[in-house]
Amino acid sequence: MQVVDDYWPQVIAADLDPGHYICHAKHGNRMLLECEQSGRRLEALNFCNNDILGLAQEASVKSAAMVAIDHFGTTNSGCPALSGRIDLHRQLEQEISAFKHLPHTYLFLNAWMAMQAFFDGFCHLAIQVPGFRHTRETLILTDLLNHGCITTAVVNAGSRSGRRLTQSPAVRIKSYRHCDPADLAGRLARNTRPDDRIVVVTDAVFSMDGDIAPLSDMVDVLADYPGSVLVLDEAHSSGAIGASGGGICEHFNLSPADIAARGIEPVIMTTFSKFAASAGAAISSRSPWLMGLLDACPTAIGTISLPPAATAAALEAIRQVRRQPERCRTLRENAIFLRRLLQDQGFETLGETHVIPVLLPPEVHPKTFARYLLERTGVWVSPIWYIAKPRLRIVVNALHTEQDLRRLVDAMVETREAVFPTPFSTQLRV
Ligand SMILES: Cc1ncc(COP(=O)(O)O)c(C=O)c1O
Repeated sequence: MQVVDDYWPQVIAADLDPGHYICHAKHGNRMLLECEQSGRRLEALNFCNNDILGLAQEASVKSAAMVAIDHFGTTNSGCPALSGRIDLHRQLEQEISAFKHLPHTYLFLNAWMAMQAFFDGFCHLAIQVPGFRHTRETLILTDLLNHGCITTAVVNAGSRSGRRLTQSPAVRIKSYRHCDPADLAGRLARNTRPDDRIVVVTDAVFSMDGDIAPLSDMVDVLADYPGSVLVLDEAHSSGAIGASGGGICEHFNLSPADIAARGIEPVIMTTFSKFAASAGAAISSRSPWLMGLLDACPTAIGTISLPPAATAAALEAIRQVRRQPERCRTLRENAIFLRRLLQDQGFETLGETHVIPVLLPPEVHPKTFARYLLERTGVWVSPIWYIAKPRLRIVVNALHTEQDLRRLVDAMVETREAVFPTPFSTQLRV
């Protein structure tokens, strides 16, 4: 522990540690926050959590969770393969399958487990069968800015327990330039060997840049590799893009069936922590056999199934989204409006969705800016300075009013003027 004990105090001394805030009460986007360090309490307007449709506080979602606890208790205390599933699991799987237009779905506790299970199971299989030999290598292509759950799962696929158990063939991993189908095509051409199983994996909406993967162009590239698998991480796209919030396929007017018709196998990961008022994740596919494999792979066996309350909340939330896509429209309108307001005031934004990164001049530490914004104006955004390039990360949601959005921008302008004497827009261009 010596290194840790020496290290973390220095992180704090350099003011590089994340802030610590405790929420005491929540009403819509208004929160009563306690700053843990100072003990000070303040009312904050939230622009940093991912409840993008505002369903986490919806009465029907809360009551579905309470009914589930009443019926099944607070946890299932086991994994599906060893202790079975509850009926709510099956209902949620069916609901996601209908939402994503893929007939088979399997649930996990979160995205990290889902990605880990998929890559581990897909690359290395799970149960040795007499007479079955797995001989084909896997080539994985991953966007350079993919989420950590993908990067970790892909890296682990080269060394996970499945490989040791089944002596499965090698996994080769290549990154391609962010959202660059031409680079993807080049890397595929240079790296593919006969008999490879090809997997391409991408965030649908990138969590730190707020941009959208170029799905149509990627499909055009992959059409030259029949049998390749395209894995889409829909953590930030479900409920957010596409006319009815259906996600990236709807956004590009390209169904999973259209992708499959080009010879490409679509696999979609949905998560429930953003649009679906809960926690948990799901892998959906056309293959019923993949579900059996996911159920049997070490990641799924090694942990518990989704708790009843989380399952019921996600189920009810997705039903609401499918019944009332207006919330998704409001979210998109809010994102467009806020982006315009910020740009009109000279702030540099990235991407095109409700995840709105704002770049600051290099000499401005995002933490300094965000702390002033919160403590002086009561507006809460996330400063980012070590998991991605420095920026403010603003997440707009469907509950924000025009007044909220204007208040954020006024507060950003006030902060800029108070903290940075030189005109900000000039600094940005230096
Ligand atoms: C692209 C992406 N994938 C996966 C995750 C993890 O999702 P969860 O926390 O719902 O498991 C995130 C989290 O923000 C994400 O941005």
